[in-house]
Amino acid sequence: MRKRLVAGNWKMHKSPSEAKAWFSALVRQRPNTQAEAALLVPFTHLAYAKEVLENSGIHWGAQDVSAHREGAYTGEVSALMLCDLGCRYAIVGHSERRSHHAESDALVAQKMLRLLEFSIVPILCVGEPLEVREAGKHLSYTLGQLEASLAGVEPASPAHLVVAYEPVWAIGTGKTATPEDAEAMHQAIRQWLARRYGTAFAEETRILYGGSVKPDNATALFSQPNIDGGLVGGASLKLDDYLRLLLA
Ligand code: PGA
Repeated sequence: MRKRLVAGNWKMHKSPSEAKAWFSALVRQRPNTQAEAALLVPFTHLAYAKEVLENSGIHWGAQDVSAHREGAYTGEVSALMLCDLGCRYAIVGHSERRSHHAESDALVAQKMLRLLEFSIVPILCVGEPLEVREAGKHLSYTLGQLEASLAGVEPASPAHLVVAYEPVWAIGTGKTATPEDAEAMHQAIRQWLARRYGTAFAEETRILYGGSVKPDNATALFSQPNIDGGLVGGASLKLDDYLRLLLA
């Protein structure tokens, strides 16, 4: 019922021209699969994404957005600008933004509101750091983040929200949550969404796993009942790996 989403988070990698060539190769080599492909790329790459990927069935989006609508905000990029460049998705609340840029849950909620004004689907990242996992407090921590980041946020339908569970200790480290541990968290997130937005909404909302997803562990993760795909960093940069993830 929920369409699998394999979302590549490129972070700050590749030049715009390298990205353009990569997008063209993806269009040529894309396997015939049910999984939805989406690439979350630097702002500078988005015009090329629109040029190459438009009408290909492959979606694209940004890794962040301004909490403001418009104005004197040097260096920021608005939801309107992302909409004009055809973005279907934007990541909000990635742990690298939360830690390097001190982004709070309240700011993340503001960003989600801006995106939803333009029907751009937020991919909301939540997940615990290592010390919280070791203290056994990962469920309450992650659900607390979810609650605060969604305060006042009412997506029109489950198609307007994607949640990504990304345990901080698994991001870029080569350590992955076991499929069972990830599934337990995804189940808890879905139950929380059911309490907040109703069962039907929760049943249709996609919950992605992120943190060292690779072609050799993706099948085990994605086959869990509540894991609806992945938010993939490192392995989404290599075309061969990304193609294998689409087939996982
Ligand atoms: P990773 O990154 O796959 O390189 O661990 C995932 C992410 O940060 O979204």
